[in-house]
Amino acid sequence: MKLLVTGGAGFIGSNFARYILANHPDDSVVNLDALTYAGNLENLADVQDNPRYTFIHGDITSHRDISKAFREHPIDVIVNFAAESHVDRSLHMGPRAFIQTNILGTQLLLDAARKHKIQRFLQVSTDEVYGSLGPAGAFTEETPLQPNNPYAATKAGADCMVRAATHSHGLDCVITRCSNNFGPYQFPEKLIPLMISTALEDKPLPVYGDGLHVRDWIYVADHCAGIDAALRKGKSGEVYNLGGNYDVPNIQIVKGILKILSKPESLITFVKDRPGHDRRYAMNSSKAQHELGWKPAHHFEDALKTTVEWYVGHPAWWQRIRSGEYREAYEKLYGWRNEQCR
Ligand code: NAD
Ligand code: DAU
Repeated sequence: MKLLVTGGAGFIGSNFARYILANHPDDSVVNLDALTYAGNLENLADVQDNPRYTFIHGDITSHRDISKAFREHPIDVIVNFAAESHVDRSLHMGPRAFIQTNILGTQLLLDAARKHKIQRFLQVSTDEVYGSLGPAGAFTEETPLQPNNPYAATKAGADCMVRAATHSHGLDCVITRCSNNFGPYQFPEKLIPLMISTALEDKPLPVYGDGLHVRDWIYVADHCAGIDAALRKGKSGEVYNLGGNYDVPNIQIVKGILKILSKPESLITFVKDRPGHDRRYAMNSSKAQHELGWKPAHHFEDALKTTVEWYVGHPAWWQRIRSGEYREAYEKLYGWRNEQCR
């Protein structure tokens, strides 16, 4: 099977591309990525010479770039990771790039999927489309969509366009909605890599509000396995929740990182809260467990330790990002510009 993986130079997309190449020897991966601030070809340096892997520098909001991918490769399925993915950016820098990539880009990919009659379109979505939970319960696939921030709203919009493509045009589509990922190659703007890299620099760790907001954490390899299962065994038109069964307050995560690094809790600094900050996410993934035979295989504590060790062992990777050096390299290589995301 030939997979068009969009956003494959980002955190989860790069882990997924590596997962497919390692676990499916007959599959090949075409990675279409615009290399925004979050895309980094170093994430896939170990597979760049694999004959089953191809990189195309292209934008999912460009009809021309998508057509080029289809012209050059007989694509069987699309797995759409490409997105503006950071909630704080959607709040502080405006939603425009989010609307363009997350909604318009998804629609252009759906159009191409129809035109080229591909076998399946898999949309990588998020638990954030469901909004926030009270003190009890968990999101199911039947929970109404109630996105509370611009990022989540655009992901919900994309999910609706995917649903419409199946309902109106009979396109074979599956949506996965996952909880908070962590693991190697995560951009150090997100909680866990931000806290690890900041603690390694002995700088204050910014915890929003009271630190008691709850997220459901999943190791990225488990998310990749869930997407793979949905791609091969999921039913067209269905949504599958993928969660880590590990929902805890942010402060517990931060303290856990400091403990692994043997750094003092005095580094923790409570800062102004994120506007409209969702209080609690938790996932019920029993549908994926029963219909796909999937459940997370990694224990949180072990996976967090592995992740911390990865960042400790790869200082050049995150220091280059934090210093902005890698962006200068891309500007030279591709003339890359993404003013909205700076
Ligand atoms: P990321 O920000 O690390 O990577 C996004 C990638 O998409 C980058 O490589 C970027 O260059 C690329 N991209 C952005 N705009 C593009 C465009 N217009 N055309 C082509 N490529 C473009 O994101 P991530 O954390 O790896 O998330 C990947 C997907 O998974 C997203 O769709 C996100 O909504 C979803 N998701 C993420 C999480 C999480 O915890 N990180 C959880 C659930 C779902
Ligand atoms: O739930 C899935 C979502 O998880 C994905 O769809 C998003 O793409 C991904 O970015 C993530 O969104 P969150 O907003 O939950 O992740 P983030 O890492 O930004 O924040 C996690 C929690 O930590 C959240 O409650 C806010 C808090 N936080 C975050 C940062 C960056 C802090 O307290 N301090 C920080 O500096």
